[in-house]
Amino acid sequence: MGSRRQKMLSIHTIGVRKLTLVFLVVLIYLVVYHLPPPPKTKNNTRADRQPPTYDVDTTPRYLHSSRFREDPDSEYEKKVSDALSEIEGNARRREHNWDSSTDDRIWQVALGKYIERDTDSIEFEQENREWAYSASKLITETFSSVPDLKQLYDSYPYHVIRSDLIRYLLLWYYGGFYADMDVYPARSIKTCPALQPLWNDEARRLNVSLVVGIEIDEPHASPRLMREWRWIRRYQLIQYTMYAPRRFSPILREVIVRVLAHTRQHIKHSNFFRGPQYKENTILEVTGPGVFTDAVLDVLSQTLPPTHKLVESSVDADADIGDLVSSSTGVTQRRVTWAPFNRIREPVCVDASEASEGKSMGGVCVLPISVWGNGQRHSGAENFRSIHACVNHRFGRTWRKGWMEYFFG
Ligand SMILES: *[C@@H]1O[C@H](CO)[C@@H](O)[C@H](O)[C@H]1NC(C)=O
Repeated sequence: MGSRRQKMLSIHTIGVRKLTLVFLVVLIYLVVYHLPPPPKTKNNTRADRQPPTYDVDTTPRYLHSSRFREDPDSEYEKKVSDALSEIEGNARRREHNWDSSTDDRIWQVALGKYIERDTDSIEFEQENREWAYSASKLITETFSSVPDLKQLYDSYPYHVIRSDLIRYLLLWYYGGFYADMDVYPARSIKTCPALQPLWNDEARRLNVSLVVGIEIDEPHASPRLMREWRWIRRYQLIQYTMYAPRRFSPILREVIVRVLAHTRQHIKHSNFFRGPQYKENTILEVTGPGVFTDAVLDVLSQTLPPTHKLVESSVDADADIGDLVSSSTGVTQRRVTWAPFNRIREPVCVDASEASEGKSMGGVCVLPISVWGNGQRHSGAENFRSIHACVNHRFGRTWRKGWMEYFFG
């Protein structure tokens, strides 16, 4: 009788163990794949956190080579570029009295089921009442002629990647002001001191189609510091806030071309069984600030005359470094690096008219870090209350940080 009872007991135990296991697997699955983002916190925890012990190299680096530019798919890039030019041409022809300047319009993008507009976003609209506010969902019709665009867009596994591409498309086609949903308006756009050159009277007004801010400006950062801070560049432009005062910025067109081309490359080189993986660094590189920053510097390099002051100062800064000198030919490449934007205190603007004959970059302004990139413990950024601050970025608690930061941040 005793042995029968034991048998029943052990069967019973196995049953419980199995059930526990099944329960755990289901729980882990739910936690990993279906956890909603944590509640919004009010403070920017990243800005208040101590930086890691400083880790600097003696030689600054003002140039970064993305592996995606080593063997670019020039044929596909040309196709996309041509398709975009045609879209631009059609828009210009359609509209009587064509003028590339844009209405004052704010764009924000909300994708996915857990994302709702919260106070930052609503305040952004209210702080800028004279601007139209547009929350766009999708604009595939406008771009249906771009080869593979829809297919590549649909291939992205996360909304955060799609939202990168959408902001470039929106600002290129419509122009206007883009801000992520967690961007707080420290000032209204029109009272931002750094943007005043754009609203000067007619005679002194700059002809600029893109305004960008700085997010990272640490040319001396060592590889270790970069790893610890999860940086993919020693310098980086912001793309959580962007302003396109004019439509069809040639720089944004190049960004779109590269995002699509690099996504294709990424898919092509991915593991046959697992498919393309989008880890944080890949996203930053393929659709995020990596490709964005490179495209700005590269388009400037391709369109400014070799005697331009940005080229001069880039070459001068490289004198003791040698990143611009070809190791095979010894010839110095005359191009724009990060050097002219290192620790700038005033906006650095290039007017559209400064491009070489027959070339076009549409004009661009780069704003000092504290205008849009304040509240960070690096790059000489001032805090959220800096007098230069025009937006405060709360560094989204969505995919990069999430619950870990919410509890341990
Ligand atoms: C601004 O620059 C563009 C070239 O990017 C040019 O087509 C346009 O005529 C310029 N506008 C003004 C007002 O100078």
